[in-house]
Amino acid sequence: MSDKVVVITGTSTGIGLATAAAAVRSDFTTVATLRNLDRADAVRSTGADVRQLDVTDADSVAECLAGVIADYGRVDAIVNNAGASVLGTAENLSMDDFRRAMEVNYFGVVELTKAAMPHLRATGGRVVTVTSVGGIVGQPFNEAYCAAKFAVEGFMQSLAPVAASVGVGICVIEPGAVTTEFVANAGIEPAKEIAEAGPYAPALRAYIERTLGAYTVGQTPEDVAAVVMQALTTDPIVFRRQTSDAAKAFVASTLADLDGSAILNLTSTWVR
Ligand SMILES: NC(=O)c1ccc[n+]([C@@H]2O[C@H](COP(=O)([O-])OP(=O)(O)OC[C@H]3O[C@@H](n4cnc5c(N)ncnc54)[C@H](OP(=O)(O)O)[C@@H]3O)[C@@H](O)[C@H]2O)c1
Repeated sequence: MSDKVVVITGTSTGIGLATAAAAVRSDFTTVATLRNLDRADAVRSTGADVRQLDVTDADSVAECLAGVIADYGRVDAIVNNAGASVLGTAENLSMDDFRRAMEVNYFGVVELTKAAMPHLRATGGRVVTVTSVGGIVGQPFNEAYCAAKFAVEGFMQSLAPVAASVGVGICVIEPGAVTTEFVANAGIEPAKEIAEAGPYAPALRAYIERTLGAYTVGQTPEDVAAVVMQALTTDPIVFRRQTSDAAKAFVASTLADLDGSAILNLTSTWVR
């Protein structure tokens, strides 16, 4: 193993699991974290150092990082991957649903990033965060989820020039549909959701039919992990990476500055 240490969140399944496997293969000292160690069998088989970390629990984030520093003395990169879908429209979602979406998808990212910054400054490290095309384009029945992913994009784009001024690189990864446990893990039961959607039922049915179709042709988590590895290892760091041509085309419908370099070239001048 190299002496480069990467800490990855949400590695029980999907993109996080594939990223842990890819990081081990690329010779990183890989700290693969997950909130529930009962779900660790798959990630243990990658050879990663598996540790508990719940991104919504500040003590768990602090304890995990302290343990990594105690054992390895450094952190070279974090991959903020943990996230969860919250499906539904504003009228039908509770305020708790909106807060839950923000806790895991946004505040969890802020918590670990903030705690890791001193260690990343020491190594000239990187923060790589899996957001989504839904962090750029708002999508039907995703008000809570997309708002949280927009928040992450705003946080990271604001942080990027400041972090660069102390030698830390920032990248956001924007996948489209990826064939993971994302929908199943969110406990979404399409028939039940539609039955409970009231006046929104026809729109939700149309959305779910369309979206299930998108998932049958989605990218594999391994494809996305390969893009995360590029973000961890390629110089110079690129702020924004879509993970497929389809994701790029979708995001391009809203963004002129696809990789974020134009705006960061401008905002960087504000801090030097
Ligand atoms: N799949 C897609 O189509 C897609 C598209 C764009 C972006 N993304 C993003 O990609 C990332 C990974 O998702 P995925 O597709 O790989 O889905 P996934 O298979 O459901 O993986 C999500 C991971 O996040 C973990 N997690 C959830 N809440 C957590 C918490 N509080 N603390 C720590 N870990 C937590 C889950 O752990 P548990 O096993 O404990 O639940 C799981 O390991 C997410 O940020 C998601 O928003 C996914």
